[in-house]
Amino acid sequence: MARGARVLQPLSFIVRPFFFFFFCCFFFFLYSTAATQYSSQRIQDDWWTYKDSVQGSFVPGPGFWGLVNSAWSLCAAGKRQSPVNIETGRMIFDPFLTPMRVNLGGNKVSGTMYNTGKYVALRLDKEHLVNVSGGPMAYSHRLEEMRLHFGSNDVRGSEHLLNGQAFPGELQLIHYNQELYSNVTEASHNPSGLIIISIFVKISERPNLFLKRLLNRDTITRITYKNDAYLLHDLPLSSLYPDTQSYITYDGSLTTPPCHETTTWVIMNKPVYITRVQIHSLRLLSQNQPSQIFHSMSDNVRPTKPLGNRCIRTNINFSTPSKDCPNKKPRKLQYRVNEWILK
Ligand SMILES: *[C@@H]1O[C@H](CO)[C@@H](O)[C@H](O)[C@H]1NC(C)=O
Ligand SMILES: *[C@@H]1O[C@H](CO)[C@@H](O)[C@H](O)[C@H]1NC(C)=O
Ligand SMILES: *[C@@H]1O[C@H](CO)[C@@H](O)[C@H](O)[C@H]1NC(C)=O
Repeated sequence: MARGARVLQPLSFIVRPFFFFFFCCFFFFLYSTAATQYSSQRIQDDWWTYKDSVQGSFVPGPGFWGLVNSAWSLCAAGKRQSPVNIETGRMIFDPFLTPMRVNLGGNKVSGTMYNTGKYVALRLDKEHLVNVSGGPMAYSHRLEEMRLHFGSNDVRGSEHLLNGQAFPGELQLIHYNQELYSNVTEASHNPSGLIIISIFVKISERPNLFLKRLLNRDTITRITYKNDAYLLHDLPLSSLYPDTQSYITYDGSLTTPPCHETTTWVIMNKPVYITRVQIHSLRLLSQNQPSQIFHSMSDNVRPTKPLGNRCIRTNINFSTPSKDCPNKKPRKLQYRVNEWILK
């Protein structure tokens, strides 16, 4: 046995450089395909996927997002990335978190639903202004887009986890800072740019009225393929934002490339419900165009990222004291501001 081990030892010196060589070749291959076949910026923005699977040609999955495009380097190197696993035992009760205010600007609105190939998106008509403020926000934020993430079965689908558990889906309401920025593109790569209100999706016999309009058979089958769009009227907006004032908040990033760390997440302490038939119809959406092979959009989820030294705050008052967050204990200041004025 000991002899055999000794014989193997020198072999590893040969094997390791070989692995390294193949690894380098693989990356060179990635970069060269990216450079030659996908030179157009627009196509490159779209050149990522949720699974490292190969559908004819290589498309980078979450582990590669930060490596294939220099504009996306935060996806790999960022330390304030989303989604995260929320451990409720480690949340900090913050009594200074005020209730959020939602200004719907009327109830019935029109909007367009899209199959982006990555997720289901809904954008309201340009003239319709929905804004949120209060809570962890210092500014008023305007609703830009809703995105739906969902799983191929009921034990996965949400991007955020709660004590390690996923929900069948997650609805993300993306708002941009309308006081500092003129549009979502500008806001998404600038400080305090985005607020994303996240609502977990659960299965029930009694669906949410807003989602019912989006997910009924007549509607959802209009966006079966990538780039399909469908205009909807009279959407009952008031049933979209959950009627709860409890939420959980932390600072993170976009969960899609370019993963900018400009997002404050607000996770509502109340799910929305959709029916079993409705989630099934979501699973029948394709990531691809009709000419390509069917590939279900489900499991469009980025794996969770480490929380690092970030805090997860909540306005839910737990009776049991929670562990203190490092940020909540201000260090003793070494200087006093304007000390000389008081002399
Ligand atoms: C929020 O929306 C309402 C109507 O939708 C509008 O009247 C109000 O001015 C908006 N608030 C800000 C800060 O833009
Ligand atoms: C967003 O706003 C910036 C700055 O005002 C502008 O340069 C850019 O063209 C706008 N983009 C879109 C898509 O409207
Ligand atoms: C939080 O709950 C504790 C125990 O019920 C109570 O004593 C305390 O006043 C509450 N704090 C706030 C800010 O509501």
